[in-house]
Amino acid sequence: MNPGSRPDRAQQLTERKLISRRDYLRMLVVASGGLMLGTTGLAGGLFRRHGSGEAAAVKIAGGIDPGEMVDFAYPGADDPAIAYRLEDGKLAGFSTVCPHLACAVLWRKEHGVLECPCHDGFFDQRTGEVMAGPPTRALPKVELEERPDGIYATGTEH
Ligand code: FES
Repeated sequence: MNPGSRPDRAQQLTERKLISRRDYLRMLVVASGGLMLGTTGLAGGLFRRHGSGEAAAVKIAGGIDPGEMVDFAYPGADDPAIAYRLEDGKLAGFSTVCPHLACAVLWRKEHGVLECPCHDGFFDQRTGEVMAGPPTRALPKVELEERPDGIYATGTEH
C-alpha cells in the first residue's frame, strides 16, 4: 500500500495512541508516587502522637499557684504540654496536641475546660477526657510530681 493510504495512517494513529497511553500511565505512576509520599509525610506530621512511656523527670516550674498555668515541652522538645493548678489545689498536666488533627489545645479556666478551637473540641480539665466535638481520644496526660524544689513532669499516660 501507499505510505499515505488509509490503513498506514490508521496504524500510525494507533501507535501514537499507544505511546501517549504509555506516557499517560507513566505520568499517573509518578503522580501517584508523589501523592503517596506527600500523604505519608503529612500524616506522619499531623498524626504524630504525643511521646509516651518512660521519660526522665524534668523540672517544669518552681511552683504553680491555684489558677496559674505553665507551658513546657515533655517528654521531648517537640511535645508541647501544659500544667495548671485548679482552685481546689489539684495539679493537672496534659499534652496540648489535640488528638483529632493536632491543633493546639488551650486551657479555658473561666469555663473549666480544655478547648481545641480548630473544630470546637472540648476536654475535661481534670481528666483530659473528651466532652464534646470531633476528637475520639482523650488528651494524653502528663504525670506531675511536687518535690521540695519544684514541680516535675515524670511520665505520660495515654
Ligand atoms: S484539631 Fe482539635 S478538634 Fe479538630
